[in-house]
Parts: sequence; C-alpha cells; structure tokens
Amino acid sequence: MANYKLSTLAVHAGQHPDPLTGAVNVPVYLSSTFELTGIGADRGWDYSRAGNPTRDRLESALAALEGGTSGHAFTTGMAAISALVAMLRSGDHLLCSRDVYAGTVRLFDQIVSGYGIEIEYVDSSNLAAVEAAIRPNTKLIHIETPSNPLMVLTDIAGVVKIAHARGIEVSVDNTFLSPVLQNPIALGADIVMHSTTKYLNGHSDGLGGALIGTTPEHKERFLLIQKAAGGVMSPFECYLVLRGIKTLPLRIQKHEENGRAVAEFLSSHPKVQKLAYPGLKCHPQYALACRQQKGFGSMMSFELKSREECARFLTAIKIFLNAESLGGVESLASHSATTTHGSVSEEVRRTMGINEGRIRISVGIEDKDDLIADLDQALAAV
Ligand SMILES: Cc1ncc(COP(=O)(O)O)c(C=O)c1O
Repeated sequence: MANYKLSTLAVHAGQHPDPLTGAVNVPVYLSSTFELTGIGADRGWDYSRAGNPTRDRLESALAALEGGTSGHAFTTGMAAISALVAMLRSGDHLLCSRDVYAGTVRLFDQIVSGYGIEIEYVDSSNLAAVEAAIRPNTKLIHIETPSNPLMVLTDIAGVVKIAHARGIEVSVDNTFLSPVLQNPIALGADIVMHSTTKYLNGHSDGLGGALIGTTPEHKERFLLIQKAAGGVMSPFECYLVLRGIKTLPLRIQKHEENGRAVAEFLSSHPKVQKLAYPGLKCHPQYALACRQQKGFGSMMSFELKSREECARFLTAIKIFLNAESLGGVESLASHSATTTHGSVSEEVRRTMGINEGRIRISVGIEDKDDLIADLDQALAAV
C-alpha cells in the first residue's frame, strides 16, 4: 500500500475484505478471548487486550496514513499520551510545548511528575528556547502544532534537527490537522499522537487515541504498554474510527474550505479581536504554515472583550453548538478559559495568553454561508 496516495489509503489501508466471509467492511470482532489451536499456539490472537482483529486493522490503517511502521489504538487521546510517556523512566526529562491542550498539562503535572519524571514547558515556536531548555537527561520533546487554542505553530523539522543531534526523540500531537494536512513523520518526527475522538473519527460519537511509531523499539514498547496497562480501544470504537477514516480526506477538504471562509469573515468583523488562524497572511507564522502543512484546517480562536460578551455570543449561536471538542462534522464554539483550559490556573492561563474573552471554534462541514450568517447574528447579539 506504501505507494498509494492518501485518499486511496484512507479507503483501503487495513480495510481488505474479511478473509472468512468476503465482507467489504471490517467486522467488529466482539470477542474478549480466542480459541487456541494447541498449547501456546493460536491463530494470531489469544486475548483482546493484547490484540484484536478489528483493532489490528485500524492500527494498520493509522500506521499507513501517518507513514509510520506501527499503529497503536487506545481508549482516548489522553490514554495515548499516558502510554507515550510510559516510555520514560524516573530521572528522565520531558520537554513539552508550553501552549498545549490543558488535559496534557494536567496529566503531566498532576500524575506523570509524581513518577520522578522532570517536566518542563517551553515556547516550542522558538527554536532557540527549545535548544536552551535541553538537559543531559532530556529523552523526549513533545510538541503540539498548531497549538490549542492559540494556533501557534512549531517548526517540526527545526525541533527534530535540534533533538536528533542529541539523540532525543520527538513526538507530535497531530490531532488538529490530521494526516491529511500534516505529516510529522515525513518531517522527521519519531512518534505521532492523535486524539481519534476528533477528525479521524469525525462524527463526535466515539472516544479514542493513537500512537504511531517508526522503530521496532516503539512497536515493542507500545505493544507492551497496551497489554500491560490495558488502555486499549474497544473493537466497536475501532470500527467507528475505520469508518470515519474512509471519508477523512473528503471531510477535511470541506472543513478546510469552510474554515478559510469563516476566518476571512471573522478577520474583518469589528467585534472580533486577535483572531488566530494560520491561513491568514497576517498570522505571524503564515510562511511556516505554508511550508509545513498541506492546508490550514478548520480550527481557530478569537477574543471578544469579556467573559460576559462570550456568554452572550455562545447563547446566541444557532448552528454552532456551545460545546467542547473539535473535528466533528458539526461546528462547535467554546469558551476556552472554562472548557479546554478550565483545569489550569488563571495564572498559567495568563502566561499562556488565554484570557477570559477567548472563544475557540471548530468549523464543521455545514454550508459556509449558513455558518457565516450564524456567526454574524451571534456577534450582533454581543
Ligand atoms: C490536541 C488534543 N490532544 C489530545 C486531546 C485528548 O484527547 P481525548 O479527549 O480523546 O482524550 C485533545 C482533546 O481535546 C486535544 O484537543
């Protein structure tokens, strides 16, 4: 499958007809255990925590889409990040983008740091700062680009160059763009992470996460973590993600078209301040976005004057839903300080640059004129 283009991989990678029945769709193998063929002998599966045929198909598809050598599916994006940092040992140093999903910060600060792993946040959009923050015990640099919700970009190839010169691995949270719009492994990254809850599944009806590795050691380690820690994706969720992936390139095309139109509209609206969307020429990293991404996606955020204005806006929207999450077919809007970043202190939010007036939107695949009309009337109510 390696030579096929992404739209072909999305439909066919890991999705060959079922060998037993010829079913075109991957069956949902709802079986916790599998009959053995003898002592210590099986047909490829023995117990679903260690491996399940539906999960195997999804994991192959994920590896193919991201250009990695092994895929590993977990119950949620956070379970995938937990499995990622389970590679580290007490005394290791983990460097992480400062402007990341707050759930990642909560996991690192409230749980992972208790295991003796040193965690440090760095403005990863500044390569000199990344280089300066590296210590002799740095083992992993985890970056999220574009970041959440400020849409700050990190130069993946730039970080990889600095890291690899010192034998450090780089992992990239590719949730916001999906493999359709950004390929971290092609830019040199070692590991890609996804919350499949978002664009990969795409219909806001399932939770999941994934790691895609590039070495035999990643495969061995992540398989062990799946089997030992057990946070694996259920066969039914695997089926949903496989189904979602088939239309991923098409959906992303429409998300992207709508995202650009909505960003254009918001950029000239007098009540909208500090619009962050990498597809606008005024975005400070527009050139990097053009170089490193294949499109700009459909995530953006902006500021209104106050929390009260945000409340009025979120009450007035009719097509956009006032809800957390992103990447589904429906358009969503959320108040960053109390949703995605509600778990970090006000002080940390301030250092991140997220204030009480910040709204994040995930533009869906509805008609773009309807979406713009909805935002227009909601902003009029502010
Ligand atoms: C960029 C990013 N990474 C990771 C996660 C965590 O994923 P999940 O909610 O599937 O655990 C999220 C969730 O919003 C996210 O936005």
